[in-house]
Amino acid sequence: MSHQKILILDFGGSYTQLVARSVRKQNVFCEVLPYSTAISAIEAGGYCGIILSGGSKSVNAPESLLIDNAILSLNVPVLGIAYGMHLLAKISGGQVSFGGESAVGSHVVEFGEGSDLMAGLGAASTCVFGHPDCVGQAEGFTVTACSKECKVAGFEDAKRHLYGVQFHPEVDETECGADIIRNFLFNVCGCRGDWSMDAYIDSQVEQIRRTAGGGKVLCALSGGVDSSVSAVMVHKAVGDALHCIFVDHGLLRKNEADEVEKVFREQFKINFVRVDAADRFVSKLAGVTDPERKRKIVGEEFIRVFEEEARKLGQVDYFVQGTIYPDIIESGIGDHKVVKSHHNVGGLPDIIDFKEIIEPVRMLFKDEVREAGRLMGIPEEIVARQPFPGPGLCVRVIGEVTHERLDLLRDADAIVRHEIIKNGLHKQISQYFAVLTDMKSVGVRSGERTYESTIALRAIKTTDFMTANWSRIPYDVLETISSRIVNEVCGVNRVVFDITTKPPSTIEWE
Ligand code: XMP
Repeated sequence: MSHQKILILDFGGSYTQLVARSVRKQNVFCEVLPYSTAISAIEAGGYCGIILSGGSKSVNAPESLLIDNAILSLNVPVLGIAYGMHLLAKISGGQVSFGGESAVGSHVVEFGEGSDLMAGLGAASTCVFGHPDCVGQAEGFTVTACSKECKVAGFEDAKRHLYGVQFHPEVDETECGADIIRNFLFNVCGCRGDWSMDAYIDSQVEQIRRTAGGGKVLCALSGGVDSSVSAVMVHKAVGDALHCIFVDHGLLRKNEADEVEKVFREQFKINFVRVDAADRFVSKLAGVTDPERKRKIVGEEFIRVFEEEARKLGQVDYFVQGTIYPDIIESGIGDHKVVKSHHNVGGLPDIIDFKEIIEPVRMLFKDEVREAGRLMGIPEEIVARQPFPGPGLCVRVIGEVTHERLDLLRDADAIVRHEIIKNGLHKQISQYFAVLTDMKSVGVRSGERTYESTIALRAIKTTDFMTANWSRIPYDVLETISSRIVNEVCGVNRVVFDITTKPPSTIEWE
């Protein structure tokens, strides 16, 4: 079944994914494409509305990101947000000028009457503004909202179905934001709200069955949310034709490999090959302390082990990959800088001969992937799993990676995870874990001098993992974690708490 779709054109704004999420929350499907997408492709997409995202540049700057004027004549409703609104004004012959930093922040906005976009919002409400430019004069548009700081906070030309807001309706702090998005979708674009996760799963399963039915399907299962949900979806479609290979590289958290095996082998009865390769990985990592070398070794060895196992299956027709929508959006825009080389299964298709890649969750955001997983009965331990780096604990063992040091970290990390969950903090913290530092320090135990390792505790809050703040874990929880680690984990006499934001730090220590 095909759904109605909204198109979001991305001008590089930091909230673009939030715009997409706020549309999908209203049961309307949407796609995010780069601002430079050709008009012919937009026309062919059959969208029932277009949203121009925000962006950090000024439409007056020489290097500003522009759009084809033909977008105005598609007879499809357009909503411009901040930079997107400025573009609508500019290409319609209006003026945009620098409003100053005072234009940025939370301001009270007053709404006019008679606008479909602003219907039912009341007289005024607090909205978040993020761009210092403002529309000065807008040819052909009626002003629908204003604030003390910004005279044209909203405008529209209902005859041409063009709408703009200077503030960000997609952020939670804009009180009436969800109402504005809803008005645009249902009042202006005439959407029906025909998209639901249940229907999405059914249509993906049907599509996979049609394309891959009868062929042998291979999945590199990591036990993370994305690959797990992908595997279960494909299994619903092709059953025993799916073969999952799970490489236990010995760099996983405590009991993780057993948990994954139990869910896939016992609960879902999926063909599941577990490769115990811990010794192999640890011996390759012997003596290596450079973070990038460690990542490279793990990545290469992973491919080698996987390849050996995959060969045993004979000819494979399809390969399952847990690519999710943010990966696709990011590669579409192409200017996101790599700070660390991220290990994933991206290199695998080159070494295995198969016909096609199946990416069942490629159109979903992370929280939607979790929702799909829950609907298919995947247990909470896997669905709610926090992000875990591909190279595993090797980037959390600072210095040399040995079985002993990994075991020590696993024990400390299990305590951190247990206490965070026990105290109900896991819902507010995006990622939390222990790091085994390469620092030893002097301590005292039972009157005797000790010289032992230091564990660092990292806990952060973030929406996009590009920036992060450290979580304010209550002191009594920190105290319990610290005292349990120094008392229960042999070889640790000190626990420190990392209170650095990203940037300038990163979330992982290596
Ligand atoms: P950083 O440390 O770059 O981490 O601030 C951002 C997010 O990415 C995760 N991460 C990785 N994930 N392979 C992965 O699959 C990697 O090499 C890798 N390095 C970091 C990290 O846990 C955090 O969620």
